[in-house]
Amino acid sequence: MSKIPVSIAIDGPAGAGKSTVAKLTARKTGYIYVDTGAMYRAMALFLIRRGIGAEDAEAISRVSQEADISIEYRDGEQVVLLDGENVNAFLRTEEVGKMASASSVNADLRRKLVELQQELGARTSVVMDGRDIGTVVLPHAAVKIFLTASVEERAMRRFKELQAKGEPADLDTIAKDIEERDYRDSHRAVSPLKQAEDAILIDSSKMTAEEVAEQILAIWQQVMDQEKEKG
Ligand code: DC
Repeated sequence: MSKIPVSIAIDGPAGAGKSTVAKLTARKTGYIYVDTGAMYRAMALFLIRRGIGAEDAEAISRVSQEADISIEYRDGEQVVLLDGENVNAFLRTEEVGKMASASSVNADLRRKLVELQQELGARTSVVMDGRDIGTVVLPHAAVKIFLTASVEERAMRRFKELQAKGEPADLDTIAKDIEERDYRDSHRAVSPLKQAEDAILIDSSKMTAEEVAEQILAIWQQVMDQEKEKG
């Protein structure tokens, strides 16, 4: 394998199955999985703890620069450190998810996290998932995937997840939340969620995560073979 780090970028809306697919792809390629959404969530947690409101753009621009966010790998799992504290257990709440979506429109906040993500990609081969990986973070990624699924399918997956955790869930409310978040993520001025021109679109509505990962691996294999031919 070449010593130059190789990147696989997987972008798409919430609930399309990016993280499951990215983890499978990372395991099979031996690359490191980087969950950039978790970084935006850690930043959101930092802002919440500092008492910053989602609408206070000036404070978000300023305070976000003070956050010390880093990534470590323990037993193959990504651990997000906020000022040295492992905050993984706090990142998956609705409150943090909403703040992450709202605060990630901020250009200063994004610049800080994008730099961190680019450093990771320059250092080692990665499977990175997010919203702007193929368009902004790693525009030269060897493989770019845009993974989607219908709103109905994504809502159903989330509904089942919540049910499995024994949490109350309403399918219509979940679907409405997903639509709102999609709209916000794809209409923001900075790095909106959109398919890179050279990204391959995969609709996972009727596919298992394994099937999607297999498709990505086949594309990756093809790219690697082409690179080898080029010498
Ligand atoms: O994928 P996720 O739900 O964990 O992401 C949380 C929020 O962070 C999401 O609303 C959009 C934002 N995000 C982003 O703007 N850019 C990324 N590369 C990843 C996530």
